[in-house]
Amino acid sequence: MRILIMGPPGAGKGTQAVKIASFCEIPHISTGDIFRAAIREGTELGRKLKGYLDEGKLVPDEVTVEVIRERLQKPDCAKGFLLDGFPRTVPQAKALDGMLKEMNTSLDVVLNIEVASQVLLERLTGRRVCRHCGATFHVVYQPPRREGVCDRCGGELYQRSDDTERVVSERLEVYARQTAPLLEYYQERGLLRKVNGELSIDEVWLEIEKILRSLV
Ligand code: AP5
Ligand code: ZN
Repeated sequence: MRILIMGPPGAGKGTQAVKIASFCEIPHISTGDIFRAAIREGTELGRKLKGYLDEGKLVPDEVTVEVIRERLQKPDCAKGFLLDGFPRTVPQAKALDGMLKEMNTSLDVVLNIEVASQVLLERLTGRRVCRHCGATFHVVYQPPRREGVCDRCGGELYQRSDDTERVVSERLEVYARQTAPLLEYYQERGLLRKVNGELSIDEVWLEIEKILRSLV
């Protein structure tokens, strides 16, 4: 399966992407995760990107498209993939169409996780992420068993530098201006499926699972 998961910052894309990838046995490719790993490792790419992520601005299309082009060429993508956080602009979507054409393949579905903006701020400012394995928690909605400690691997939990109120507002604006227009792009192609992202994490997954089962 070739799947895109879309939705505003904090909609729960990463949370559901982990479940989808395991259910469909496909790699979960998140541009945000790739960029944060490059920043953590201090690579040349990482040094270039840090300012964009810290300010909640989009990384330039050329850089992002190249990162995805390389990733999709890896052998584990032959049987399918889940893209999370890409594409985020119309030029990125067009570049993806070109790559899929070269691979003689196409998308199966675009899942759009819908959540009202007042809920997103609370979700993002309460999010905590494991430094070691990347697992995501929330201080209220998905609290770890021990405060500040990852349930999965015992790693330390931290708050992302772009999860402050100031940067979250910027990310929501960038989403509305640059990414939301893409929904129409996929709607016109008959690929878009809406998911109510305001339900609980388990209920959202049930909705997604139903859609995925209807496609096989
Ligand atoms: P990225 O990492 O993609 O961030 P994002 O799109 O802003 O999405 P988030 O990871 O913040 O949210 P999510 O929807 O995954 O929510 P989550 O599941 O964690 O991008 C970061 C930056 O990288 C961008 O700002 C940009 O600079 C750059 N970038 C990335 N891709 C790019 C691209 N293509 N082009 C250019 N630049 C790019 O959930 C959030 C919280 O809510 C968690 O705490 C979770 O536990 C909780 N939660 C989840 N679901 C529920 C629920 N149903 N009920 C209650 N709580 C829930
Ligand atoms: Zn962990």
